[in-house]
Amino acid sequence: MIPKAELHVHLEGTAPPNLVRRLAARNKMTLPERLFGEDGRYLWDHFLHFLKVYDATSSVIRTPEDYRDVTYEYLASCAEEGVIYVEVSSSPDHAAANGMSYGDHVEGIVAGIEDARDQFGIEGRLIVTCVRHFGVERSMEVARQVVDEPHPLVTGFGMGGDEAGHPPGQFSRAFQYVADSGLPCTVHAGEWAGPDGIREAIETLPVTRLGHGIRVIEDRALLSEVISRGITLEVCPGSNLATGIYPDYASHPVADLIAAGAKVTLSSDDPPYFATSIGKEYDDAGTHLGMDADAQIAITRNAIEAAFVDEPTRAKLMTRLDDAANETG
Ligand code: ADE
Ligand code: ZN
Repeated sequence: MIPKAELHVHLEGTAPPNLVRRLAARNKMTLPERLFGEDGRYLWDHFLHFLKVYDATSSVIRTPEDYRDVTYEYLASCAEEGVIYVEVSSSPDHAAANGMSYGDHVEGIVAGIEDARDQFGIEGRLIVTCVRHFGVERSMEVARQVVDEPHPLVTGFGMGGDEAGHPPGQFSRAFQYVADSGLPCTVHAGEWAGPDGIREAIETLPVTRLGHGIRVIEDRALLSEVISRGITLEVCPGSNLATGIYPDYASHPVADLIAAGAKVTLSSDDPPYFATSIGKEYDDAGTHLGMDADAQIAITRNAIEAAFVDEPTRAKLMTRLDDAANETG
């Protein structure tokens, strides 16, 4: 199996329907109606609706043990697909809405990462994210928690949410505050906003990566700028097709971005919502882009190079990748 690495996945968005049902039962909660369709999958019909369904399903994750289980079960499924490294993004705002402190939120996730590492040898790190449509004040509070309560496995900061309605510049104080403490940052940009949103993001926020970033393809000068700054793109084709940004793989810019020399990685974003997985993203790249084993290994190499991880761990991951590449080749 090709060794894989994933930089962009929303932890609360990894819980499949059966786990959400189990957590709801454990917490004696009744799930909102119409959360699941007749096919048993999550029911949503456009991106902003998806964000609301995401809020509803996240409400069943109420204790550190719940967060541990969501993390562990996701990493276990990744290990089965040959994944050696995952950065999960979590949302302390969602945890706080369920009465959980930042410290408990992190502690639960870290327990899941450590248990999965012990069990499967998969390495994991946590990117703490704020949510743009929760506002600038909340973003600052999350930034303060990240800096004031550091944890060795919390290795980055990011931001998701409604990009089209909330441009990035207003969040620069939160990002700068975290970056000044030494943590690297990423931000969703160029998913629901075009090149203007990407330009604003890279000019106002201290980011080394972009979540999605795909719409940089619409502005060649900006694409050159992104490439010359060495910014890595966390590309999630299955997500983009599911949310309707592109109608099919043939229209998706991932192949053009790679051809132009952009540093592209592959991720699943919110796998059960978008009927995908990190393994499927690699497989689909093989099927639809003709990416052979070497090309897929190059994707993993890009991810490990851009990972928010300490240098000894990066070196270990690279050795694992090289060893597997030698076996494949
Ligand atoms: N939050 C959870 N999933 C997201 C996505 N795909 N884009 C932006 N914010 C999100
Ligand atoms: Zn995302």
